[in-house]
Amino acid sequence: MGNKLIGYGSYLPERIMTNADFERVMDTTDEWIVSRTGIHQRHFAAADETVADMATNAARAALENAHIGIDDIDMIIVATTTPELDFPSVAVQVMGRLGATQNIPAFDVRGACTGFIYALHCARGFFTAGIHERIMIIGAEKMSRFVDMDDRSTAVLFGDGAGALIFERSTSSYSGIIDTVVMSDGKKFDMLHGSPDHKIIMNGPETYKMAVSLMPDAARYIMDHAGITQDDIDWIIPHQANIRIIQSCAARLGFPLDKILITVDKHANTSGASGALALAYAFDNGIIKHGQLILYPAFGSGLTWGATLIRV
Ligand code: UT7
Repeated sequence: MGNKLIGYGSYLPERIMTNADFERVMDTTDEWIVSRTGIHQRHFAAADETVADMATNAARAALENAHIGIDDIDMIIVATTTPELDFPSVAVQVMGRLGATQNIPAFDVRGACTGFIYALHCARGFFTAGIHERIMIIGAEKMSRFVDMDDRSTAVLFGDGAGALIFERSTSSYSGIIDTVVMSDGKKFDMLHGSPDHKIIMNGPETYKMAVSLMPDAARYIMDHAGITQDDIDWIIPHQANIRIIQSCAARLGFPLDKILITVDKHANTSGASGALALAYAFDNGIIKHGQLILYPAFGSGLTWGATLIRV
């Protein structure tokens, strides 16, 4: 029992924070940020704009793209680590705002920057079990709520936004979410985590080292697991944290850079929203075409990491 992608959507807040905006409020430079991260700008949500607002906007766009209504969806999974409310989930808030009349299951997963793959992993399981028809996966984050303007080493790295994908059950096992692999190592909690007063605590260089080793590992593992080779992959759309991490992963895997999609320059690191946002960007700009095979590896707080293969 397989699945196929039938719609996508995204939402980025109106406000753009450029590197020059950071230069005005902290001891940093555009040159440092671009050369160390590849980031030129990021979107920051308005003070009263919530994760649920952004997720709902992306979900609405995906429903329109798929030409279906919310009652055609029978499960909503939201990947987010930055919800304003401890309960209920962002997923039920989205469902309510979109006016769902069916009592479908809706829940959040917290996988930090790997959250998108964790959500896809759940969806793949439900499709394989044959118990759901159409599942909406949303990645939505308000990272700006955790940005500590007194810490220049993390403040410049993150952005806000949301992306949504809709998958439908299908008989083909060669379309949609083809495979997923997710892993975690709780012993490495200290490397990157949030604090009770909503700040990002990160050992940047150590996190960097783990990312450039574990993302290629996950990519190799999933290709072996799915029985495919690099030649079968049309695009690598990696988690967008840092262009140097992305380039290093490409080099370790031996992938040419023209097969790698980069959005970190425009969106910065949007954590669990990164994958769905990047896919939506790639569709909107005619970069990826229906039928192509995408490899998406990711890495983040937890530590968590993994990869997915999606034929779009
Ligand atoms: O999704 C996973 C989430 N996290 C990540 O992927 C982050 C992984 N890590 C990284 O991307 C990189 O480690 C950073 C971009 C965070 C930092 O780059 P780096 O090349 O590892 O720099 P560093 O931490 O070794 O710092 C080098 C210098 C330091 O100055 P000194 O001690 O050499 O004088 C920092 O204080 O750069 C300084 N620095 C800055 N300078 C200007 C750190 N942040 C800034 C800044 N502007 N914003």
